[in-house]
Amino acid sequence: MARINKIKGFADLFPPESNLYVFMEERARKVFPLYGYEEIRIPVLEKTELFARSIGGETDIVQKEMYTFADRKGRSLTLRPEATAGVVRAFIESGMASREGVYKFFTFGPMFRYERPQKGRMRQFHQIDVEMFGPEHPQADGELILMLFNYLQELGLNSLTFYVNSLGCKECRPQFQEKLVAFLTQVPEENLCADCQRRRTTNPLRVLDCKVEKCREVVREAPKITDCLCEECKKHFEQVITILNQSQIPWEHNPFLVRGLDYYQRTTFEVVSFDANIGAQSAIAGGGRYDGLVRNLGGPDVPGLGFACGMERIALLLEGQKQNSLDFFVAIIAEQALNAGIELAQRLRQKGYRGEVSFEAKSLKAHLRQANKKKSRTCLILGEEELVQKVVQVKNLQTGLQQSVAWEDIEQALGILF
Ligand code: HAM
Repeated sequence: MARINKIKGFADLFPPESNLYVFMEERARKVFPLYGYEEIRIPVLEKTELFARSIGGETDIVQKEMYTFADRKGRSLTLRPEATAGVVRAFIESGMASREGVYKFFTFGPMFRYERPQKGRMRQFHQIDVEMFGPEHPQADGELILMLFNYLQELGLNSLTFYVNSLGCKECRPQFQEKLVAFLTQVPEENLCADCQRRRTTNPLRVLDCKVEKCREVVREAPKITDCLCEECKKHFEQVITILNQSQIPWEHNPFLVRGLDYYQRTTFEVVSFDANIGAQSAIAGGGRYDGLVRNLGGPDVPGLGFACGMERIALLLEGQKQNSLDFFVAIIAEQALNAGIELAQRLRQKGYRGEVSFEAKSLKAHLRQANKKKSRTCLILGEEELVQKVVQVKNLQTGLQQSVAWEDIEQALGILF
């Protein structure tokens, strides 16, 4: 029979890769609640109109990247290309949007975009999505970016840059847009890529972050939105900057950061990595403020802001950092030590250490090969001699150092090692 393979741009995740996803989710569940966020779950399938109305009909996502199909009754449905629209819909539909207060949510899950697959870019990919509703204050924008920074640090990611910009509001952005269109109409057609020739009338802001080199050259001379902000937006942006400056976040103002979704107002940001492992796809997270979106989707006028992390891209960075899957691997080198090994492993697991134990006695060499394959931090060696003396040889697999430890001291020894 012919074999059935997976769809292009979709992936199966097995260990050790899948462990990275568990790790990202675990750390999110640890960090986000420190700021008052709670986990929610929402559907992956929504009515197409939800995305067209929120992300914007002229965006690449809606124009050419959505998985849209008719269901059995002919209704147009779409596999979500991102989570914000669905979270906002659920927020309104639940009635919460009509009750005052600050609401903070996070959610994980698969998203779908029909893009050309490459390293760090998939058709089914995963996001960690965070949304906050209620506050209009710049302190909320600041805290959100601080939380993202805290989270990425918890993952052990350090060499990152945070690009920050303001896109103004519905008062000042149209004026900027006019200036930009005036500038772009003077640019000779051949100096822009085919997409941007179209965008300069349909969605001129998107020309600003086109990745094609000749467009980037044009954009260097373009007017900057942050020079055209109204007083309110200017004040808001300055306050966000003050918060960023009093933190250790490595941030830069990028006046050409506009993002690929139309719902943003005022603060926008993107986190990029210059690590070679991530390929050409350098943005690992992005977000911003989207005041007006809740109302645009039929709810009351509640401000909102959030971000999403791309889990595939973060996984590429983490892979480069070599993760340990296990804390210990118990290597039994004499038959009579098998049961003592089970007992020892059980004790360590009850203390929260992750580990495995060999179910058969083998040569030390074979065990070490296995322990390294499982990416264990340590190998605990139990043989005839150790059984008699009630000790275990603890080998640190990173440094190669080995020491003899009494059974009752083993938890303490592992504690020191980590
Ligand atoms: P986004 O910038 O479209 O924003 O996506 C966020 C992150 O998802 C990107 O920075 C990237 O790491 C990852 N990502 C996007 N497309 C792909 C892909 N095809 N393959 C792998 N990773 C990908 C949003 O989706 C907004 N909803 C974020 C947000 C939440 N804004 C406010 N709240």
